[in-house]
Amino acid sequence: MTSSIDNRRALKARAASLVLPKGFVFGAATAAYQIEGAPAEDGKGESIWDRFCKVPGVIIDGSSGAIACDSYHRWKDDIAILKELDLSAYRFSFAWTRLMPEGRGAVNARGVAFYDRLIDDLLAAGIEPYATLYHWDLPQALQDEGGWYNRATADALADYAALAARSFGDRVKKWTTLNEPWTFCWSGHASGEDAPGLRDGTRGGVTASHHALLGHGKAVPAIRAEVPDASVGIVFDLNVAEPASADPRDAAAARRFDGAQNRWFLDAVFKGFYPQDMLALYGDLLPEIRADDNAIIAAPVDYLGVNIYRRSVIAEGTELAPLNYRRVQPEGLYSAVGYEIWPRCMYDVLRYVNDNYGPKEIYISENGVATRPETVDADGHVWDELRAAYYVDHLTEVAKAADEGVPVRGYFAWTLMDNFEWAYGYTTPFGITHVDYETQKRTVKFSGEIYAAIARQEAADR
Ligand code: NOJ
Repeated sequence: MTSSIDNRRALKARAASLVLPKGFVFGAATAAYQIEGAPAEDGKGESIWDRFCKVPGVIIDGSSGAIACDSYHRWKDDIAILKELDLSAYRFSFAWTRLMPEGRGAVNARGVAFYDRLIDDLLAAGIEPYATLYHWDLPQALQDEGGWYNRATADALADYAALAARSFGDRVKKWTTLNEPWTFCWSGHASGEDAPGLRDGTRGGVTASHHALLGHGKAVPAIRAEVPDASVGIVFDLNVAEPASADPRDAAAARRFDGAQNRWFLDAVFKGFYPQDMLALYGDLLPEIRADDNAIIAAPVDYLGVNIYRRSVIAEGTELAPLNYRRVQPEGLYSAVGYEIWPRCMYDVLRYVNDNYGPKEIYISENGVATRPETVDADGHVWDELRAAYYVDHLTEVAKAADEGVPVRGYFAWTLMDNFEWAYGYTTPFGITHVDYETQKRTVKFSGEIYAAIARQEAADR
């Protein structure tokens, strides 16, 4: 049996032999609601996540992001970790309700000032900001008017995008409109495990998706109008869907699942129309799609961000009629949120996206693994070997795709530090840094050291 010490040594050696293309960006990602805390400070308005977490039973440990990592006050500590790890990029999101407490109209100067400080300090530390506009925390005021069921929310997103671009675009050049529309639309409106917690099935998921994509399509030109040299993109959570067996019914279910999670979004943005088979399948469940909508949604983007955590093995089943699928869990290693650890999913998704859609540039905007809560040992270490191996294995697959010419330009670890994992609360940390929530002390884990070693090597090569 290999000892932990041998295992750590072997991981270090593998990390040292990884080669990514010159200029490859290594960063870490977070999102406002998951780290900031301070939900009602300095004029911030209420978001759907502030509201949702108060519903009994929806968050596994009854917690919320009300304090989280207290990054609203401790952003300097967060930047210090990025610096310590020699990462050159930070992907974070703006809380819409800090900038526009009611979702539209009045601007909150104190909210703008917070992100001014964050951005200025990042730049002073030599770290490039990658800003996401929408990472799930819709203003409650907009939810009260129907949220993503309401077409007007798309216009509100574009106005908010213009405000953010006007406020920060002199310093922020990398912009993401939406983070994971598949998840926030379907988990928020079809199955209800995320805010706003609606259980409206496929009609809910597809209606929210169309309006969210419309919001993206309107936000892109709004950002470009303010920041002509901006690089603007969108982040999708994609999974290559594999049929669970040779049975043609499983193959058909996998194709439907692929249509719902992947092609619906990718075709709309990169081809300018929704996939015919999915339009036919959704039928009466579709919202109104107006004549110009397709062209709006297909506003050219500079890059695609991909969040990748797993593959999907799919059989015919009863989930979300008429998608009628069932997720099969093959034997293997699973993370604390029940995702199979299957590094090859990284290579497969990169090839899928490149071969079918050919985006100019691709970023892995998130990748990482959940464990059970960890402890810092007496010597100040967190030996998360599983997570360290996860990074080495997945980055090996990125390197393989890059070698074959897939234009993958950067990679962001999810996540910079343990934080509020939505419906899982604080029970399934993903961080490369441990957070002690009593003291807010941050401790870089072994995985953070391994990740930094890979990043440093690339930096030294330049
Ligand atoms: C994707 C989401 O963007 C992020 O907010 C979440 O914490 C991670 N997946 C892990 O589940």
